[in-house]
Amino acid sequence: MKGVVLAGGTGSRLFPLTKITNKHLLPIYDKPMIYYPIQTLVDAGIREILVVTGGRNSGDFLRLLANGREFGLKHLDYTYQEGEGGIADALALAEHFADGQKICVVLGDNIIQGNVREAVEEFKQQPTGAKILLKEVPDAERFGVAEIRDGRIASIEEKPKHPKSNYAVIGIYMYDETVFEKVRVLVPSGRGELEITDVNNAYIREGSMSYGHLDGWWTDAGTFESLLRAANLVAETRTKNSEAVLVKP
Ligand code: DAU
Repeated sequence: MKGVVLAGGTGSRLFPLTKITNKHLLPIYDKPMIYYPIQTLVDAGIREILVVTGGRNSGDFLRLLANGREFGLKHLDYTYQEGEGGIADALALAEHFADGQKICVVLGDNIIQGNVREAVEEFKQQPTGAKILLKEVPDAERFGVAEIRDGRIASIEEKPKHPKSNYAVIGIYMYDETVFEKVRVLVPSGRGELEITDVNNAYIREGSMSYGHLDGWWTDAGTFESLLRAANLVAETRTKNSEAVLVKP
């Protein structure tokens, strides 16, 4: 399976931090934000990765990441999203790279504690369709929210005022090759974007969407509060891990 990191958009919610650089180049504790979604894919056993960038600082991604040697990769692919037409608009740029294969897509500002290897392995065995991961959160209205009926996802609502559940859809999505046909027929939402939630709802209508639950913590990092939370979570986890190593006999 191939991997795609979506790191376009303007990061307007983090202005003025994003006035002179791209949101995904900002630090999360001791690494630039973009390192975390790339590591998520690498930890899932994915070696062919496309980074979708955008904005005025796209050249900096190349200087920072080069060919992905720091991640044990031989090569990284890059492409450029013009404007900020939404997550699904950025995903459309991956069609050539995907070349008919299944893909695992990670949003550039989503950071997880654990590993999605098992979910990726499960999706490899799934003949067609898509797979998403859910996490119970206290502030579901900030996210895509899944309504679950009889053990299946009935629908996903994007940032609902009155969420039907506490299950947020995290920014890690697995798709078969039909995803690009689904993106082609999307229309922009109220906020003027091609929504990834509309793509997911197309799979749900088709009856080919599976889901899993993510273990460990998860956060986005697109607001001041979540950027700080992400740094704190990474720092705490790092400290705990090194303490655990120190106390080992
Ligand atoms: O974090 C998970 C949530 O991400 C999901 O629960 C939502 O369903 C999904 O819509 C998304 O919500 P946000 O509104 O928080 O997404 P945001 O606009 O912050 O974009 C997230 C990342 O997607 C961003 O870091 C880079 C990428 N992106 C976004 C846009 C709008 C692009 O590559 N291009 C874009 O045009």
